[in-house]
Amino acid sequence: MSKVTVVGAGNVGATVANVLAHKDIVNEVVLLDLKGNMAKGKALDSWQQAPIDYYSTKLKGTSNYKDTKDSDVVVITAGIPRRPGMSRDDLIATNAKIVVSCTKSILEYSPNPIIIVVSNPLDVMTYAAHKASKLNAKRVIGMAGILDTARYRAFLATELKVSPKDIQAVLMGGHGDTMVPLPRYTTVAGIPVTEMIDSKKLDKIVERTKKGGGELVKLMGTSAWYAPGAAAAQMVESIIKDENRIYPCAVRLNGQYGLKNTYLGAPCKLGKNGVTQILDLKLNAAEKKLLKASAKHVDKVIKVFSKMKLV
Ligand code: LAC
Repeated sequence: MSKVTVVGAGNVGATVANVLAHKDIVNEVVLLDLKGNMAKGKALDSWQQAPIDYYSTKLKGTSNYKDTKDSDVVVITAGIPRRPGMSRDDLIATNAKIVVSCTKSILEYSPNPIIIVVSNPLDVMTYAAHKASKLNAKRVIGMAGILDTARYRAFLATELKVSPKDIQAVLMGGHGDTMVPLPRYTTVAGIPVTEMIDSKKLDKIVERTKKGGGELVKLMGTSAWYAPGAAAAQMVESIIKDENRIYPCAVRLNGQYGLKNTYLGAPCKLGKNGVTQILDLKLNAAEKKLLKASAKHVDKVIKVFSKMKLV
């Protein structure tokens, strides 16, 4: 028996629940939102999709944390999204309180879950959930790298006129404009991307990736949900199936990359106990410099969170 709770029935939360249901890998998905009946409605709508799309995953919408009891994995998407002109960091005052309170409520009914955080500012909200939960850091992970690499891979697929399936990539750092795509570790069907594209075009794609979330906020007036939701569901899948897939995720670094006591994007393996290994790549001097700058930015926002004294 396995059970996954998704906290927050907004666009991202509902997409996580819906994509997970389609995967047919857990017995039950609980979609929780404290506000109104949206969680109930979206869960019921997804359940009515089951006979058409052929899955048996049970779906339950609720506004009561009691229904989340004994969840194996909890995905926290609660919080407000960005509006045009806002950076992810602008959300901290509102979202930190929400993420801390959700985490505490979840722990009342599921003593040892794996928590995946999707709320922004991502790296800091994952740090907040870790502090509030007091769980082993291996069990508190942020979703950002899969989304950011997906954007990078999608842009490359368009440019190179290849299937996005054939593009593999690693990306590190914070989920913001300081993120660090790594062209040196990007391949197209095993071929280094640098052999397929000139450096000017690649630089442009890297820059577009860094601002990929903002591009969608400008287009839609709110932040994205299909790719973010699918990315979180992919992390759940690797955990539930104990696959040990390697994904870039926001993880607590403990000496890797010369960084400590912080949450930042790095490639890691995900299995039934959460993060089973953080890969410590041998970055070159230029890559290290970019990662340091990204870590510095995230640490500044962590300080803002710490001053709020919520945990
Ligand atoms: C984005 C939000 C989810 O990057 O952070 O679209």
